[in-house]
Amino acid sequence: MSSVERARKAAQELDHLSGFGNEHSSEAVPGALPLGRNSPQRAPLGLYAEQVSGSAFTEPRAHNRRSWLYRVRPSAAHPRFVRTDNGALASAPFTDAVPDPNRLRWNPPPAPPPGTDFLSGLWTLGGNGDPTQRTGMAIHLYTANVPMADRVFSDADGELLIVPQQGGLLLRTEFGLLRVEPGSVALLPRGVRFRVEPLEADVRGYVCENYGRPFQLPDLGPIGANGLANARDFLAPVAAYEEAEGPVEVVNKYCGNLWSATYDHSPLDVVAWHGNHLPYVYDLHRFNVLGSISYDHPDPSLFTVLTAPSDTPGLAGVDFVVFAPRWLVGEDTFRPPYFHRNVMSEYMGLIEGAYDAKAEGFVPGGGSLHNMMSAHGPDRDTFERASTAELVPQKVDDGLAFMFETRWPVLTSTQAMNSECLQRGYDEVWQGLERHFRS
Ligand SMILES: [Fe+2]
Repeated sequence: MSSVERARKAAQELDHLSGFGNEHSSEAVPGALPLGRNSPQRAPLGLYAEQVSGSAFTEPRAHNRRSWLYRVRPSAAHPRFVRTDNGALASAPFTDAVPDPNRLRWNPPPAPPPGTDFLSGLWTLGGNGDPTQRTGMAIHLYTANVPMADRVFSDADGELLIVPQQGGLLLRTEFGLLRVEPGSVALLPRGVRFRVEPLEADVRGYVCENYGRPFQLPDLGPIGANGLANARDFLAPVAAYEEAEGPVEVVNKYCGNLWSATYDHSPLDVVAWHGNHLPYVYDLHRFNVLGSISYDHPDPSLFTVLTAPSDTPGLAGVDFVVFAPRWLVGEDTFRPPYFHRNVMSEYMGLIEGAYDAKAEGFVPGGGSLHNMMSAHGPDRDTFERASTAELVPQKVDDGLAFMFETRWPVLTSTQAMNSECLQRGYDEVWQGLERHFRS
């Protein structure tokens, strides 16, 4: 059986727990979870009790994140970590390349060399902030063609939002197994260990590494109690553990660098857990898209799936936004995204199909970066078409695009600026926008 077939078999018929931010609990063996206390004198079944936190102990209850794990061995039982090669994975602050105000766009990454796993296939485009200050974010692409064999990754620098674009992934996490396919996303909390196994021969996608406060569902305000991403559609795993004895490499990203230690057992040995610091998967097709039913279209903040707040109310460290299939019905309205210059910086990716503001050049697996105050909007063909189209109700359902939007400029890595994937003629998209003004 090939590694892909093994992963697909393991990914079949997974059970889940439903609800973002809930206090969930799960046990792979009946009786493994202590009742009524977190750390009894002797944990059930000879397990070790351990807390992992995603917030300071003292943060307000609404933001407090922690889980209790009941595991075969405590996480503390490990040898010394030593530095290992970062590969193409980089961290803020990105000071190598001169910040570039130009609009940038990249083609999809090439297939990686044989033997590339998710971790070794991570390639950093850029980011902002500083993981040592727990602010900002980084944008990575991944390509992979083999499973992470006998190795496990955890990221102390931030949580990881994985957006598959080609091929699904099986995620074996400390909390259990999750399957994430293109059109769905996975959210892996800071410091939680996991292994990635591709469900296709070649997989690729995007990763937002959020150094800051964890992603949460946006407030809904006048929208009401329901809508956008509904909490119940976020699925957490049920407990599942590995008993593998033998060398397992554990790679830890810490303050921008990768560190490695070889354990004599798998650290994915959690038999039971409870808490709210958890991984999730979310199907973007479940997003309840809201919009105008009169004229104009709202700002795309209305498409926010998850938001990672910064210290300033309303200013996100990073928002995750999806452009999902939707109806456009606005009367006397230019319906595609309007021309704009924003203080926020926007990285866009395309999961499938086409995006309604770009007739060509923005392709699945590629990405565009429109940084702070850069002028952008529909290309010429899109403008001409949309400004003369008959305004009948129109279903936009030929693509699935997303955006990582951040309050700080995205500084690009040197490898991103030197990449052969960088489209040198992107500005030409906006050439030929004719003068129509008549005084
Ligand atoms: Fe934009």
